[in-house]
Order: sequence, then structure tokens, then C-alpha cells
Amino acid sequence: MCGIIGYSGDREGLEVLKYGLKAVEYRGYDSVGYYDGTLVKDVGKVDDFLKKVEKVNVPFIAHTRWATHGGVSPKNAHPHKVGKITVVHNGTIENYKELKEQLNHNWNSETDTEVIAALLDKYNEENFLETIKKVISMLKGTFALAIIRDGDPKIYFAKKDTPLLLGIGENESFIASDLIAFLPYTNKFIRLEDGDFGYVYKGTYWINNKREIKEFEGNVEAAFKGSYETFMLKEIHEQLDIVPQVFSVDLSEIRDIFKNNRIDIISAGTSYHAAWYLKYLTNYDVQPYVASEYPYLMRDPEWIFAISQSGETIDTIKAVKKAKEKGAKVISLTNYISSTLASLSDYVIPLNAGIEIGVAATKTFMAQLLFAHNLIEDRNIDEIKEAIKRGLEAPLFDIKREKVFFLGRAINYVLAMEGALKFKEITYIPAEAFPAGEMKHGPLSLFDDNTDVVFFLGPQGRDLAKVNLEEVEARGAHVHKVIFPDQYYTISATVFLQRLAHDHALKLGRDPDKPRNLAKSVTVE
Ligand code: F6R
Repeated sequence: MCGIIGYSGDREGLEVLKYGLKAVEYRGYDSVGYYDGTLVKDVGKVDDFLKKVEKVNVPFIAHTRWATHGGVSPKNAHPHKVGKITVVHNGTIENYKELKEQLNHNWNSETDTEVIAALLDKYNEENFLETIKKVISMLKGTFALAIIRDGDPKIYFAKKDTPLLLGIGENESFIASDLIAFLPYTNKFIRLEDGDFGYVYKGTYWINNKREIKEFEGNVEAAFKGSYETFMLKEIHEQLDIVPQVFSVDLSEIRDIFKNNRIDIISAGTSYHAAWYLKYLTNYDVQPYVASEYPYLMRDPEWIFAISQSGETIDTIKAVKKAKEKGAKVISLTNYISSTLASLSDYVIPLNAGIEIGVAATKTFMAQLLFAHNLIEDRNIDEIKEAIKRGLEAPLFDIKREKVFFLGRAINYVLAMEGALKFKEITYIPAEAFPAGEMKHGPLSLFDDNTDVVFFLGPQGRDLAKVNLEEVEARGAHVHKVIFPDQYYTISATVFLQRLAHDHALKLGRDPDKPRNLAKSVTVE
């Protein structure tokens, strides 16, 4: 995914660029760039990039990138300029290699986008709309394009299969991948449809098809959340969308390392649960450690695997640094490939979950689970999406008592740990997880009729888990069984436990997006 923002109008360019880039940063954040008559682009975070920008001319087009064709490098960052034409692009062009071969050109990048700029430059006619029409008819694939032609004050655009919107204000126009990128300036917008192309110039626009101007009613925050009550709920639902992008990561090299080495896994919180999921799911010789404890337990690791959605968790970073001092090689899995953790790693695996705003990890946890499935080459996208749907649709039960326990055996114990963490984190009700077989060694004394029990009964370890379930029921506890079909039970149950916590938090009047005392990125020890 990538983010696009373009502006034609009388405002200070820098202000619009800053706001717009930050707003679309969630769509991709390995590189940033803009064109305002001068091409400025680099790898890294939007914030770091913007620190170096002092003035921006108008019109401009700008881009945040999540690499698809061609690695993360300044030359592959957008915009791409060929002759008089500069382009930013979201999407992928399937036939770009054939098109490149047909053109006699010295390519500056490995991207599929540069070929679009080259074609537009080659066929650049007086009536540039004709040029665009011709060039997009040659492209196979998906694209949202914003284009500047030197000497022409308009910003041109074209759209197929990826989002692109126009913002139409008084004497000003915007082009963006998301409404939120221009909402502080105008609430009038046109959502372009596939096959649309045209231009904007100040408050005017032209589109090859008739499109209606709509008005967004609500505030910017609401726009970010869409129709969802909370970010967390939005992100729970987004789990359906992230499956293909998570599986698109090529793990062949990493798989070999996992097959042939003993690996310590270092992580915290929800990411730590993902580490255990990996252990239960696979036959690899891995051992999960809580990051803050790892320095006390570490021996002489050859390989460590750090899991952190933010890539900034200080416990994880410190543990990684300690292991590196001992000579360990580092693989990391993170949603932020330009994070501190990534910079410390020999191999960085992008989580590809898209930005997560709610403090409680939901879709990033799902992406971590899917990573484990990808690692063992279990990539049945359709079945997994069906399992997610089941988790989204299953009726929830009510938790009414003061004590809540989450139980399970084998990989279901991972669900129990995550269920309890999510529940206590956003409801503030004490909730604990136990391996179901451990109950009789102490915790069973806690169980009475003032106890709610959430029992995960997926296929792994089920027979014995049923015995433990009876032990709990016999003590008068109120048992809620989490039942789903066996096919990807863990995936359905993960979505379910997130919804359970979210629903209960709302019932108690808590804000699930911002639980008290917590932060999204934990940079203190
Ligand atoms: C819980 C949650 C936290 C994080 C933990 C590690 O919902 O989000 O437990 O999982 O703080 O964060 P990362 O993965 O960024 O290292």
C-alpha cells in the first residue's frame, strides 16, 4: 500500500504537505517524497523526512511508500520523473517488465511506476488527457496516479482498483488516497471510480465521467474511524483485509534459518503470545522469552527472533542489544520496518498489518499469527478469511462475575493468555489465564459461583481439556465455551476474544482505544 496527496491552490504548500503525508502515512511508511518542481525523496519515516523540508511550492504531489516492486531505497521512493512527467503511484503494474523492454530508456529505479512516467513522457501530447487515456489503456494492474507535467499548472490523475479521492475547496483542490488527508481544508469530495481520469486545478476539476460531489459530515477523528465506534473495532474488522498482504511476504530464506537453528524468541505482551503460538504451531526449535526477563536467562544465543509490532518496545530492544553483544544474529518481525528494532536486525520481516491506532494490539497480533502460518507454508487465504468471518459473526456471551479466568490446553492456552490480557487491559477487570491442566495444582481453589470462565476448546489437546472443563464446572463456575469449527479454530477464536473484550469495555463505559496507564509504544523500562 502507498499513500498519495497532491495539492493545487493558494495555501502554504508545506502546511498541506505535512498534514497530508502524516494522514496517509498509515498506508505505507518505508519511504517518502514529493515533487513541486524539484524532486525530493528519501527512505525513512515521514517525521524525519519533514524535519528537513523548509518550503514546498504549489502544485505538488507527494507519496508515502510501502515497497512492492523494488526494495526500500531512495531511488525507488516516489515520485518518479521521466522527462517532463512526474508520477506518484499506488498499486502494481503487472506488465511493467514488458513495457520497460519496449521503451529505450535508462531506468533510474527498479519500480513498476517509472514505466508509467516514461510512457506519459513518450506520448506527451498537447492535449494531455488523450495521453493519459492512451497510457492507462496500456497498463495491466492497479493504479491510483497523481501526475504533474512540467510547464502545466494542473495535477492530473487516473484510478483503477485502488482508492483515489478529489477534495474540492474554494479555489483549491486536493488529490488523495484517503479523505482524511484533506478534511481539515474541505469536506467536499469526489470518490473516483475505476476508469476515471482527469485533472484538478485550484477549485476546478475535470473527470472523464460524471461524478457527484459529496459532503463529509463529521470530524477528522470520525473520518479516521469510518463508521466504527472505536479504532479497535475498526482494526478487528480490518483483520479480514490484511490476510493477502501478510502472506505476500517471501519467507524462503527465513524458513531455512528456522529449520536449521535453535532460536530464542524475545517479545512482550501480545507479541509474546504470538511467540508461543509459533512454538505450538510449528516443530521449530524455538523458545519464547519475555523480553524484560531475557537478559537474566540468556545464555549464548546464536540466533534470536524479536517480535514487536512497534519495533520500539524498550524491553525488546535492550534484550536484542544484549544478545547482539554476545554475538547473536537477529531476525525481527515488526510493523515498522524503519524502527529501532529493524535497524538492529540482520533480517527484518515486515508484518504488513497496516497502521494500528487502538492501543490494544488486534490486527497486528493476527498478522503475527499469520506469519507463523506463512512460515510453515500454510497459506490457505480463503479458508483463513472464512475463519476470521466466523470470529466476527459469532454471538458474544455476557461476563457478569467479579473473577474471570481464561483457560485452554496446548495452543488454546495461547488464546487463553491473549484473551485474558485483552480483557483486563481494556475492561480493568482482573482476568487471568491458566493452562487448563494446571488448575488442580492450585488455581482451582479460586473457582466458585462468582467466577466466569472462558474455555477455549480447539482441536489441540481437546480430549484432556474436556476433563478439566468438568473439574471447573463441578466447582460452580459459569463456563462459556468458545466453540468454532476446527478449521483454523485459533484464528476464529482470536477475533472472538478481541470482540469479547471490546464489547465488555464499551458496556462498562471504558474507552478501548486508550486504556488507562498504557501506551501504544512502550519506550520506558
Ligand atoms: C496488548 C499490547 C501490548 C503489546 C506490548 C508489546 O494489547 O498491545 O501488550 O503487545 O506492549 O508491544 P510491541 O509488539 O510493539 O513490542
